[in-house]
Amino acid sequence: MRKKLKVLALFDAVRATTLDQDLSPELKTENWKTEAGVLAALNELGYPNEHLAIFDDLDLLRQKLQTFTPDVIFNLADQFRNNRAFDQHIVSFLAMTGIPFTGCGASGLTLCKHKGISKKILSYHRIHTPDFVIIPRGKRIARPKRLKFPILIKPLKEEASYGISQASFVETDEQFRERVEFIHEKTNNDVIAEEYIEGREFYVSILGNHRLQVFPIRELVFREVPPDEPKIATYKAKWDEEYRKRWGLQNVFAEGLDANLTRKIESVCKRIYKLLTIDGYARVDLRLTAANEIYFIEANPNPILAADEDFAESARKAGLSYPSLVDRIIQLGLKTVRD
Ligand SMILES: Nc1ncnc2c1ncn2[C@@H]1O[C@H](COP(=O)(O)OP(=O)(O)O)[C@@H](O)[C@H]1O
Ligand SMILES: [Mg+2]
Repeated sequence: MRKKLKVLALFDAVRATTLDQDLSPELKTENWKTEAGVLAALNELGYPNEHLAIFDDLDLLRQKLQTFTPDVIFNLADQFRNNRAFDQHIVSFLAMTGIPFTGCGASGLTLCKHKGISKKILSYHRIHTPDFVIIPRGKRIARPKRLKFPILIKPLKEEASYGISQASFVETDEQFRERVEFIHEKTNNDVIAEEYIEGREFYVSILGNHRLQVFPIRELVFREVPPDEPKIATYKAKWDEEYRKRWGLQNVFAEGLDANLTRKIESVCKRIYKLLTIDGYARVDLRLTAANEIYFIEANPNPILAADEDFAESARKAGLSYPSLVDRIIQLGLKTVRD
Protein backbone atom coordinates (compact mmCIF):
# COMPACT_ATOMS: atom_id res chain seq x y z
CA MET A 1 0.00 0.00 0.00
CA ARG A 2 1.11 3.51 -0.78
CA LYS A 3 2.40 5.49 2.20
CA LYS A 4 -0.26 7.83 3.55
CA LEU A 5 1.12 11.19 2.63
CA LYS A 6 0.65 14.15 4.93
CA VAL A 7 -0.73 16.94 2.81
CA LEU A 8 -0.84 20.62 3.70
CA ALA A 9 -3.46 22.44 1.62
CA LEU A 10 -2.30 26.03 1.22
CA PHE A 11 -4.86 28.74 0.43
CA ASP A 12 -4.78 32.51 0.15
CA ALA A 13 -7.02 34.76 2.24
CA VAL A 14 -8.22 38.32 1.66
CA ARG A 15 -7.48 39.40 5.24
CA ALA A 16 -5.11 38.45 8.04
CA THR A 17 -5.41 34.90 9.38
CA THR A 18 -4.11 32.88 12.31
CA LEU A 19 -2.52 29.43 12.46
CA ASP A 20 -5.61 27.75 13.87
CA GLN A 21 -8.16 29.88 12.01
CA ASP A 22 -11.53 28.18 11.58
CA LEU A 23 -12.16 28.48 7.84
CA SER A 24 -15.43 26.53 7.83
CA PRO A 25 -17.59 29.63 7.14
CA GLU A 26 -15.46 30.51 4.07
CA LEU A 27 -15.33 26.92 2.90
CA LYS A 28 -19.12 26.91 2.60
CA THR A 29 -19.10 29.80 0.12
CA GLU A 30 -19.01 29.74 -3.69
CA ASN A 31 -15.65 31.57 -3.68
CA TRP A 32 -14.02 28.75 -1.78
CA LYS A 33 -15.49 25.80 -3.68
CA THR A 34 -12.11 24.78 -5.10
CA GLU A 35 -10.55 24.75 -1.62
CA ALA A 36 -13.52 22.81 -0.20
CA GLY A 37 -13.43 20.36 -3.11
CA VAL A 38 -9.73 19.66 -2.72
CA LEU A 39 -10.09 19.11 1.06
CA ALA A 40 -12.98 16.69 0.46
CA ALA A 41 -10.86 14.85 -2.12
CA LEU A 42 -7.90 14.62 0.30
CA ASN A 43 -10.21 13.10 2.90
CA GLU A 44 -11.67 10.68 0.39
CA LEU A 45 -8.15 9.67 -0.62
CA GLY A 46 -7.38 9.02 3.06
CA TYR A 47 -4.48 11.46 3.21
CA PRO A 48 -3.95 13.00 6.64
CA ASN A 49 -4.27 16.69 5.88
CA GLU A 50 -4.29 20.13 7.39
CA HIS A 51 -4.88 23.47 5.78
CA LEU A 52 -3.71 27.02 6.15
CA ALA A 53 -4.76 30.27 4.48
CA ILE A 54 -2.20 33.04 4.28
CA PHE A 55 -2.77 36.73 3.72
CA ASP A 56 0.59 38.50 4.09
CA ASP A 57 2.44 36.52 6.73
CA LEU A 58 4.85 33.89 5.47
CA ASP A 59 5.91 33.20 9.04
CA LEU A 60 2.57 31.45 9.59
CA LEU A 61 3.49 29.07 6.81
CA ARG A 62 6.96 28.50 8.24
CA GLN A 63 5.44 27.63 11.63
CA LYS A 64 2.87 25.31 10.05
CA LEU A 65 5.57 23.46 8.13
CA GLN A 66 7.50 23.00 11.37
CA THR A 67 4.59 21.65 13.41
CA PHE A 68 2.74 19.60 10.77
CA THR A 69 5.79 18.51 8.70
CA PRO A 70 3.82 17.75 5.51
CA ASP A 71 5.22 15.46 2.80
CA VAL A 72 3.70 17.68 0.16
CA ILE A 73 1.96 21.04 -0.10
CA PHE A 74 -1.16 21.29 -2.24
CA ASN A 75 -0.76 24.84 -3.45
CA LEU A 76 -3.91 26.85 -4.05
CA ALA A 77 -2.40 30.17 -2.95
CA ASP A 78 -2.19 32.50 -5.90
CA GLN A 79 -2.22 35.89 -4.28
CA PHE A 80 -0.41 37.61 -1.43
CA ARG A 81 -1.67 40.74 0.31
CA ASN A 82 -4.49 40.69 -2.27
CA ASN A 83 -1.92 41.01 -5.04
CA ARG A 84 -2.25 38.41 -7.79
CA ALA A 85 1.15 39.35 -9.22
CA PHE A 86 2.82 37.62 -6.28
CA ASP A 87 1.86 34.03 -7.12
CA GLN A 88 5.32 33.28 -8.48
CA HIS A 89 6.94 34.60 -5.29
CA ILE A 90 4.81 32.29 -3.14
CA VAL A 91 6.04 29.26 -5.09
CA SER A 92 9.61 30.56 -4.93
CA PHE A 93 9.29 30.47 -1.16
CA LEU A 94 7.81 26.96 -1.33
CA ALA A 95 10.67 25.80 -3.55
CA MET A 96 13.20 27.15 -1.08
CA THR A 97 11.68 25.15 1.79
CA GLY A 98 12.61 22.01 -0.14
CA ILE A 99 9.18 20.51 0.52
CA PRO A 100 7.47 19.20 -2.63
CA PHE A 101 4.44 21.17 -3.75
CA THR A 102 1.83 20.81 -6.46
CA GLY A 103 1.52 22.71 -9.69
CA CYS A 104 3.69 25.16 -11.50
CA GLY A 105 6.97 26.66 -10.33
CA ALA A 106 8.13 30.25 -10.49
CA SER A 107 9.47 30.36 -14.05
CA GLY A 108 6.33 28.89 -15.64
CA LEU A 109 4.09 31.22 -13.65
CA THR A 110 6.22 34.22 -14.55
CA LEU A 111 6.44 33.47 -18.28
CA CYS A 112 2.71 32.77 -18.59
CA LYS A 113 1.64 35.78 -16.54
CA HIS A 114 3.38 38.20 -18.92
CA LYS A 115 1.19 38.08 -22.02
CA GLY A 116 3.98 39.63 -24.10
CA ILE A 117 6.94 37.45 -23.08
CA SER A 118 4.96 34.22 -23.52
CA LYS A 119 3.99 35.25 -27.06
CA LYS A 120 7.56 36.24 -27.96
CA ILE A 121 8.84 32.83 -26.91
CA LEU A 122 6.12 30.99 -28.81
CA SER A 123 6.37 33.05 -31.99
CA TYR A 124 10.13 32.41 -32.03
CA HIS A 125 9.14 28.74 -32.20
CA ARG A 126 6.70 29.47 -35.03
CA ILE A 127 3.53 28.96 -33.04
CA HIS A 128 0.85 31.36 -34.30
CA THR A 129 0.31 34.23 -31.87
CA PRO A 130 -1.63 37.45 -32.43
CA ASP A 131 0.56 40.38 -33.40
CA PHE A 132 0.77 42.80 -30.45
CA VAL A 133 2.29 45.87 -28.89
CA ILE A 134 2.96 46.59 -25.22
CA ILE A 135 2.14 50.07 -23.91
CA PRO A 136 3.56 50.67 -20.42
CA ARG A 137 1.99 53.21 -18.06
CA GLY A 138 3.46 56.66 -18.59
CA LYS A 139 4.45 56.01 -22.20
CA ARG A 140 2.98 57.80 -25.21
CA ILE A 141 -0.08 55.94 -26.46
CA ALA A 142 0.24 55.18 -30.15
CA ARG A 143 -0.76 52.30 -32.38
CA PRO A 144 2.09 51.03 -34.56
CA LYS A 145 0.90 51.07 -38.18
CA ARG A 146 1.59 47.35 -38.63
CA LEU A 147 -0.99 46.51 -35.96
CA LYS A 148 -4.31 46.10 -37.78
CA PHE A 149 -7.84 46.67 -36.48
CA PRO A 150 -9.82 45.21 -34.88
CA ILE A 151 -7.62 45.18 -31.81
CA LEU A 152 -8.22 43.87 -28.30
CA ILE A 153 -6.83 45.97 -25.42
CA LYS A 154 -5.91 43.93 -22.32
CA PRO A 155 -4.06 44.42 -19.06
CA LEU A 156 -0.58 42.95 -19.60
CA LYS A 157 -0.50 40.72 -16.53
CA GLU A 158 -4.03 40.03 -15.37
CA GLU A 159 -6.19 36.94 -15.37
CA ALA A 160 -9.82 35.88 -15.04
CA SER A 161 -10.64 38.55 -17.68
CA TYR A 162 -10.12 41.44 -15.24
CA GLY A 163 -10.27 44.62 -17.32
CA ILE A 164 -11.77 42.90 -20.36
CA SER A 165 -15.19 44.05 -21.59
CA GLN A 166 -16.84 44.66 -24.95
CA ALA A 167 -15.14 48.09 -24.91
CA SER A 168 -11.77 46.29 -25.05
CA PHE A 169 -12.55 45.52 -28.70
CA VAL A 170 -11.52 48.65 -30.63
CA GLU A 171 -11.76 49.59 -34.30
CA THR A 172 -10.45 53.18 -34.41
CA ASP A 173 -7.42 55.04 -33.07
CA GLU A 174 -9.69 57.09 -30.82
CA GLN A 175 -11.21 53.99 -29.21
CA PHE A 176 -7.71 52.55 -28.95
CA ARG A 177 -6.39 55.54 -27.01
CA GLU A 178 -9.44 55.73 -24.75
CA ARG A 179 -9.29 52.08 -23.74
CA VAL A 180 -5.53 52.07 -23.18
CA GLU A 181 -5.89 55.15 -20.95
CA PHE A 182 -8.72 53.46 -19.08
CA ILE A 183 -6.65 50.33 -18.37
CA HIS A 184 -3.62 52.40 -17.33
CA GLU A 185 -5.63 54.59 -14.99
CA LYS A 186 -8.37 52.36 -13.65
CA THR A 187 -6.60 49.02 -13.33
CA ASN A 188 -3.07 50.28 -12.75
CA ASN A 189 -1.69 47.89 -15.34
CA ASP A 190 0.50 48.12 -18.40
CA VAL A 191 -1.37 47.28 -21.59
CA ILE A 192 -1.00 44.69 -24.30
CA ALA A 193 -2.90 45.51 -27.49
CA GLU A 194 -3.37 42.44 -29.69
CA GLU A 195 -4.84 41.94 -33.13
CA TYR A 196 -8.22 40.35 -32.65
CA ILE A 197 -8.31 36.74 -33.86
CA GLU A 198 -11.72 35.74 -35.06
CA GLY A 199 -12.56 32.11 -34.46
CA ARG A 200 -13.75 29.38 -32.12
CA GLU A 201 -12.44 29.61 -28.56
CA PHE A 202 -10.89 26.43 -27.14
CA TYR A 203 -9.62 25.48 -23.69
CA VAL A 204 -7.14 22.63 -23.65
CA SER A 205 -6.36 21.01 -20.30
CA ILE A 206 -3.03 19.28 -19.80
CA LEU A 207 -1.60 17.25 -16.92
CA GLY A 208 2.04 16.20 -16.50
CA ASN A 209 5.67 17.16 -16.18
CA HIS A 210 7.49 15.25 -18.94
CA ARG A 211 4.91 12.86 -20.33
CA LEU A 212 1.88 15.05 -20.90
CA GLN A 213 -1.73 13.97 -21.01
CA VAL A 214 -4.11 16.19 -22.96
CA PHE A 215 -7.76 15.97 -21.91
CA PRO A 216 -10.77 16.42 -24.22
CA ILE A 217 -11.00 19.94 -25.60
CA ARG A 218 -13.55 22.40 -24.21
CA GLU A 219 -15.07 25.28 -26.11
CA LEU A 220 -16.79 28.49 -25.09
CA VAL A 221 -19.78 28.86 -27.40
CA PHE A 222 -21.64 32.15 -27.95
CA ARG A 223 -25.02 30.78 -29.09
CA GLU A 224 -27.03 34.01 -29.02
CA VAL A 225 -24.32 36.48 -30.04
CA PRO A 226 -25.00 37.65 -33.63
CA PRO A 227 -22.45 36.36 -36.18
CA ASP A 228 -20.91 39.78 -36.96
CA GLU A 229 -20.42 40.71 -33.27
CA PRO A 230 -17.05 40.15 -31.54
CA LYS A 231 -16.98 37.06 -29.37
CA ILE A 232 -14.89 37.61 -26.29
CA ALA A 233 -14.66 35.90 -22.92
CA THR A 234 -15.10 39.20 -21.06
CA TYR A 235 -15.32 39.44 -17.28
CA LYS A 236 -19.09 39.30 -17.47
CA ALA A 237 -18.98 36.44 -19.96
CA LYS A 238 -17.06 34.42 -17.39
CA TRP A 239 -18.63 35.36 -14.10
CA ASP A 240 -22.12 36.82 -14.60
CA GLU A 241 -24.69 34.01 -14.86
CA GLU A 242 -27.47 36.35 -16.04
CA TYR A 243 -25.28 37.70 -18.81
CA ARG A 244 -24.23 34.19 -19.84
CA LYS A 245 -27.86 33.16 -20.11
CA ARG A 246 -28.85 36.22 -22.11
CA TRP A 247 -26.12 35.68 -24.75
CA GLY A 248 -26.23 31.90 -24.72
CA LEU A 249 -22.66 31.50 -23.45
CA GLN A 250 -21.81 27.94 -22.54
CA ASN A 251 -18.66 25.96 -21.81
CA VAL A 252 -19.07 22.64 -23.60
CA PHE A 253 -16.95 19.90 -25.15
CA ALA A 254 -15.75 20.98 -28.60
CA GLU A 255 -17.64 19.20 -31.35
CA GLY A 256 -16.94 18.46 -34.98
CA LEU A 257 -13.12 18.47 -34.80
CA ASP A 258 -11.71 15.70 -36.97
CA ALA A 259 -9.03 13.40 -35.61
CA ASN A 260 -6.20 15.11 -37.50
CA LEU A 261 -7.08 18.57 -36.28
CA THR A 262 -7.55 17.30 -32.72
CA ARG A 263 -4.09 15.73 -32.85
CA LYS A 264 -2.61 18.94 -34.21
CA ILE A 265 -4.20 21.01 -31.44
CA GLU A 266 -2.96 18.55 -28.83
CA SER A 267 0.56 18.59 -30.15
CA VAL A 268 0.72 22.40 -30.37
CA CYS A 269 -0.55 22.63 -26.79
CA LYS A 270 2.07 20.17 -25.54
CA ARG A 271 4.80 22.24 -27.23
CA ILE A 272 3.39 25.42 -25.66
CA TYR A 273 3.36 23.75 -22.22
CA LYS A 274 7.00 22.74 -22.52
CA LEU A 275 8.23 25.98 -24.09
CA LEU A 276 6.66 27.99 -21.28
CA THR A 277 8.23 25.65 -18.67
CA ILE A 278 4.94 24.68 -17.06
CA ASP A 279 4.85 21.97 -14.37
CA GLY A 280 1.95 19.96 -13.04
CA TYR A 281 -1.19 21.09 -14.79
CA ALA A 282 -2.40 23.91 -17.00
CA ARG A 283 -5.10 25.05 -19.36
CA VAL A 284 -4.06 26.50 -22.71
CA ASP A 285 -6.49 28.94 -24.36
CA LEU A 286 -6.59 29.01 -28.15
CA ARG A 287 -8.52 30.36 -31.08
CA LEU A 288 -9.19 28.33 -34.21
CA THR A 289 -9.76 30.44 -37.33
CA ALA A 290 -12.10 29.56 -40.18
CA ALA A 291 -9.00 28.38 -42.08
CA ASN A 292 -8.22 25.99 -39.19
CA GLU A 293 -5.19 27.98 -38.05
CA ILE A 294 -4.46 27.51 -34.37
CA TYR A 295 -3.67 30.75 -32.50
CA PHE A 296 -2.28 30.89 -28.98
CA ILE A 297 -4.20 33.27 -26.69
CA GLU A 298 -2.73 32.42 -23.30
CA ALA A 299 -1.59 29.64 -21.00
CA ASN A 300 -2.93 29.27 -17.48
CA PRO A 301 -0.69 27.24 -15.18
CA ASN A 302 -2.53 26.20 -11.99
CA PRO A 303 -5.93 26.81 -13.63
CA ILE A 304 -9.06 26.95 -11.49
CA LEU A 305 -9.51 23.47 -10.12
CA ALA A 306 -13.17 23.58 -9.04
CA ALA A 307 -15.03 20.42 -10.02
CA ASP A 308 -17.39 22.32 -12.32
CA GLU A 309 -14.70 24.31 -14.18
CA ASP A 310 -13.19 23.34 -17.53
CA PHE A 311 -10.05 21.63 -16.22
CA ALA A 312 -11.81 19.14 -13.95
CA GLU A 313 -14.64 18.65 -16.48
CA SER A 314 -12.10 17.69 -19.13
CA ALA A 315 -10.28 15.35 -16.74
CA ARG A 316 -13.55 13.69 -15.81
CA LYS A 317 -14.38 13.12 -19.47
CA ALA A 318 -10.99 11.39 -19.77
CA GLY A 319 -12.00 9.07 -16.93
CA LEU A 320 -10.37 10.83 -13.97
CA SER A 321 -12.72 11.34 -11.05
CA TYR A 322 -12.12 14.48 -8.99
CA PRO A 323 -10.23 12.64 -6.20
CA SER A 324 -8.11 10.78 -8.77
CA LEU A 325 -7.29 14.09 -10.42
CA VAL A 326 -6.25 15.58 -7.06
CA ASP A 327 -4.14 12.48 -6.45
CA ARG A 328 -2.44 12.71 -9.86
CA ILE A 329 -1.60 16.36 -9.19
CA ILE A 330 -0.08 15.38 -5.83
CA GLN A 331 1.98 12.55 -7.35
CA LEU A 332 3.28 14.94 -10.01
CA GLY A 333 4.12 17.53 -7.35
CA LEU A 334 6.17 14.93 -5.47
CA LYS A 335 8.23 14.24 -8.58
CA THR A 336 8.76 17.77 -9.89
CA VAL A 337 12.37 18.89 -9.91
CA ARG A 338 12.55 22.48 -8.60
CA ASP A 339 15.98 23.72 -9.49
N1 LIG B 1 -5.99 38.34 -29.56
C1 LIG B 1 -7.23 37.96 -29.25
N2 LIG B 1 -8.13 37.70 -30.24
C2 LIG B 1 -9.39 37.31 -29.95
N3 LIG B 1 -9.86 37.18 -28.71
C3 LIG B 1 -9.02 37.40 -27.68
C4 LIG B 1 -7.67 37.79 -27.89
N4 LIG B 1 -7.08 37.96 -26.69
C5 LIG B 1 -8.03 37.69 -25.77
N5 LIG B 1 -9.19 37.36 -26.34
C6 LIG B 1 -10.47 37.06 -25.69
O1 LIG B 1 -10.43 37.60 -24.37
C7 LIG B 1 -10.45 36.54 -23.40
C8 LIG B 1 -9.55 36.86 -22.24
O2 LIG B 1 -8.24 37.09 -22.68
P1 LIG B 1 -7.00 36.45 -21.93
O3 LIG B 1 -5.76 36.91 -22.60
O4 LIG B 1 -7.19 34.99 -21.81
O5 LIG B 1 -7.10 37.16 -20.52
P2 LIG B 1 -7.28 36.54 -19.04
O6 LIG B 1 -5.89 36.15 -18.62
O7 LIG B 1 -7.83 37.65 -18.23
O8 LIG B 1 -8.16 35.33 -19.15
C9 LIG B 1 -10.03 35.30 -24.19
O9 LIG B 1 -10.53 34.15 -23.57
C10 LIG B 1 -10.67 35.58 -25.54
O10 LIG B 1 -12.06 35.33 -25.53
MG1 LIG C 1 -7.76 33.62 -20.32
